Amino acid sequence: MVHELDTFFKPKSIAVVGASRDSRKIGNAALKNILISDYECKIYPINPKEKTILGLKCYKKVTDVPGNIDLVLISVPAAIVAQILKDCVKKNVKNVIIISSGFGEIGRHDLEDELKQIIKNKKMKILGPNVMGYKNASIGLDASFVYGTPRKGNVALISQSGALGIGMIYLANNEFMGVSKIIGVGNKINIDDDDLINYFAQDDDTKVVGLYIEAVKNGRDFMNSIKACDKPVLIVKAGKSKAGARATASHTGSMAGSDKIYSAAIKQAGGIRCRDIVELFDMARALGGQPPLKGNRIGIVTNGGGLGVLLTDACEENGLEIPKLSPKTYKKIDKILPDLINPNNPVDLSADAGFYRYETATSALLEDPNIDGVIVASVHGGYARPEEFTGAILKMIRERKLHEEYKKPILATWVGGKEFEDLVWDLKSAGVPIYPSAWRTARSMLGLYLEGQRIKKEKQKKKGQQFYFKEKK
Ligand code: ACO
Repeated sequence: MVHELDTFFKPKSIAVVGASRDSRKIGNAALKNILISDYECKIYPINPKEKTILGLKCYKKVTDVPGNIDLVLISVPAAIVAQILKDCVKKNVKNVIIISSGFGEIGRHDLEDELKQIIKNKKMKILGPNVMGYKNASIGLDASFVYGTPRKGNVALISQSGALGIGMIYLANNEFMGVSKIIGVGNKINIDDDDLINYFAQDDDTKVVGLYIEAVKNGRDFMNSIKACDKPVLIVKAGKSKAGARATASHTGSMAGSDKIYSAAIKQAGGIRCRDIVELFDMARALGGQPPLKGNRIGIVTNGGGLGVLLTDACEENGLEIPKLSPKTYKKIDKILPDLINPNNPVDLSADAGFYRYETATSALLEDPNIDGVIVASVHGGYARPEEFTGAILKMIRERKLHEEYKKPILATWVGGKEFEDLVWDLKSAGVPIYPSAWRTARSMLGLYLEGQRIKKEKQKKKGQQFYFKEKK
């Protein structure tokens, strides 16, 4: 079934109102981004003074453009946006992005009301105002005015803050995290978070949905969209503190609301609340590439006792258990350890552990029915061999043998410097969830656990419904 936002994200024709020859202007950048996109569509600059812009024929008004326009980007001062929108209605434009600022976020709610009035009872979808637009990395289209090309992947990002959205693009690239779409929602007069969650729920290119929000306009719709989404939904909700709530009011003109209510509502709907953007990315990386945790029992493999203890503490603090090894697993691991060490969980392989010890111990834990997921850790101690640690993880995750067979997630932790970091890049670029801290690893494991619980609940609900219908028959 075609979703109502399909032409919004995959337009065949785009017009930029306020397109300019001046390379310092936002209308110039927006047009250029569409032009250089690796995506085929018709492009129409709109500017009453120009004949051509960036080599394209320019039109005075959207109504002068021959043929349909699927998407219009507006980059003119707020005072004339309403007139442009009226033209878009006349032209029967399906989708509009209003980049322009100067609306609710500065108290000009009257201007927003005017826009809402213009599209009342129309089928038109509007993103914004006060937005950067979107980047659709799945198909290579950049419908924003900001620079930066996200790496293609399976995480859809929605940001109420444009600048943070831009930062997220660069952070994702830096972290080798792939994105399907990234979109700024700004003042949300029409397209809201729930519309986007509903869209990404059915988007084949998206496996995880991540949101930065300051306020939700319609709580019930928001909750329902998370409930209906059969994919993990990760949420950073800002404005927790009193001063933070004040800051959101002046940023996007929204009320932060009671933080406790937000937390409870997100949890109840099956979403996962993240503490910040880095945590959202950490969890997204784990959820985007690893199976969810079926239970909360974690096995830890490390070459450093201290890191093992830190991981144990962090896991327990997040509600995850580190069970004792079963006699069978104990025996398997005992065979490969130096004589002076007894197997335990965390499994301490000792500082000089290489490929063989790492691979054998991790496999033993994955095979253990009392273990639901494994954390593999390495400290770059004096005589450690980080390339053998990363090699073992790459082998296990790339070949997917054990991983697929036992459907258990593997996360990795490392502690070290530059020489280790180069190896970590290889892992990250191969999609391996690896983190430079015990806490971040445990929180990502928690994300996998919460997703596992959500899936379990959904299954139980469906079973209950089937039973109910059978009984009724
Ligand atoms: N139709 C089409 N084009 C028109 C019209 C019209 N009716 N009227 C004027 N124009 C042209 C102008 O002549 C100009 O083109 P020119 O350079 O050839 O003269 C162009 O449209 C733009 O108009 P300007 O008046 O020059 O406006 P400017 O580009 O300086 O600013 C803008 C417009 C960018 C929308 C500004 O008002 C604004 O809101 N800036 C903030 C945008 C923003 O940050 N949004 C939030 C993003 S999220 C984040 O934080 C990154």
